[in-house]
Amino acid sequence: MMKNRYMNYSPSRRGLLLGTGAAATGAALGFGGNLVARQFDVDSYRAWKEYEQYEASPEAAAEAMSKRGLVTRKSISTLPLDSDEYMMFKEAVGVMRARSERDILHPGGWISHATNHGLYCSSAVSGLQVHWSWYFLPWHRAFLYYLERALASAIAEPNFALPYWDVSSNLELPAQYWGDDSPMSDTSRGIDQGDKVPAEVLDMNACLKPVDFQTFGGFAYTSDDQEFTDGVLETHMHNCVHNWVGGNLGNSFLTSGFDPAFSGHHGNIDRMWASWSAMEGREHPDDEGWLNTAFQFDNWEGKLEQITIRELLNTEELGYKFDTLDVVQPEIATPELRGEAVGHAVTVDHSQGTAIANNIDTGRRYVKLEVNRSTWPFSLNPSRVFLGVEGETPDYVTSIAPLPNILGGAKRPNAHVNTQVAVSQELAEAIDAGKKIVCYVEYIQYKSQRPVPVDGVFELEDINFTLRA
Ligand code: C2O
Repeated sequence: MMKNRYMNYSPSRRGLLLGTGAAATGAALGFGGNLVARQFDVDSYRAWKEYEQYEASPEAAAEAMSKRGLVTRKSISTLPLDSDEYMMFKEAVGVMRARSERDILHPGGWISHATNHGLYCSSAVSGLQVHWSWYFLPWHRAFLYYLERALASAIAEPNFALPYWDVSSNLELPAQYWGDDSPMSDTSRGIDQGDKVPAEVLDMNACLKPVDFQTFGGFAYTSDDQEFTDGVLETHMHNCVHNWVGGNLGNSFLTSGFDPAFSGHHGNIDRMWASWSAMEGREHPDDEGWLNTAFQFDNWEGKLEQITIRELLNTEELGYKFDTLDVVQPEIATPELRGEAVGHAVTVDHSQGTAIANNIDTGRRYVKLEVNRSTWPFSLNPSRVFLGVEGETPDYVTSIAPLPNILGGAKRPNAHVNTQVAVSQELAEAIDAGKKIVCYVEYIQYKSQRPVPVDGVFELEDINFTLRA
């Protein structure tokens, strides 16, 4: 294995990089960069200039990138705070933050990368929306691919691999994303270090179980009105963890890329996609339009590059793999519906314990819920969904954050939000038989979010079901 400078961590040796390349362009420092940094991190604004010492010269970056081979992305919890692998990540993020302060338009700056996510993910620009559909997984894989290479080149580290946050085996946002003066931290978060994600939003089995890609990863847009049907992974675990963290990461997709924990959360989602892909019988859509869809990104040299979905389906072809594809299922205590009705377990087979989600069979079928966005009261707190035959005790089926209004990307506030949940065989049969199904929704209160707007349970009207195998 190649020996790199991080294997012999030495500040003085790395000090040699000072003043080389872009690090010398201090004249561009100033107003613009500070202004944007303040916008997104008002209370704790600080400059990241000290990290310029780690910035590689363009020559060193080019050499490193020419040596890049297959890298292994690891769970960040396995990288101690003083390890070289963690230090290189932190320093590379610091370098990218410093670049943005020097030059707000620096294509290799933290702000450029973060705002690129905002551009494609907030509906700020009509038509550029990659969430809530089958573009979600490939676009974010491309985003991380370019981010990883930007970080590697920033510090001329050929073997740099982007770590991920394995949230279902470590419910706390790891210490590696905290620290008073750390470029890895983000003071806008609504959680405190040590807080734990509620396990009920981590039904990994339900995310990985669908055999067809669309149920797992989302459908094509169904109309010009951008009616979306997102995949189970996205509505459930992806949205809920974003919102749980709060702040830049959790309050709007416009700002979520600013929090370094974004790459940790999405790194794990990308790993779940790789895990799903490795399971028996899983295939990607063969739709040519989808496969040939090209996304544009700045590469590590700051040059615009295109990458197609076809090129994004296999991580090893992209130059990375994961330390493990095992996904841990935390135990979920089934929530009970407040009030008279009491839900019962259908979502998790507890005997799965910490088993890999491969070959799971939870005995459930997927249901597509079509809800009028305007009838789903908006909150960034996720909702528990209970479904049952009218007059009978409803089942708890899942907790989701459907983000039903304009923040959810719909062009029209009354557009439908199509979401997918797994239900028991019994309930699926009742739906098949045309029985009237009642859907109850109640909020989970997250500390990072405002108090829920509706007290207790409410019933949703205007809800349609489509059964999926
Ligand atoms: Cu494009 Cu998790 O956000």
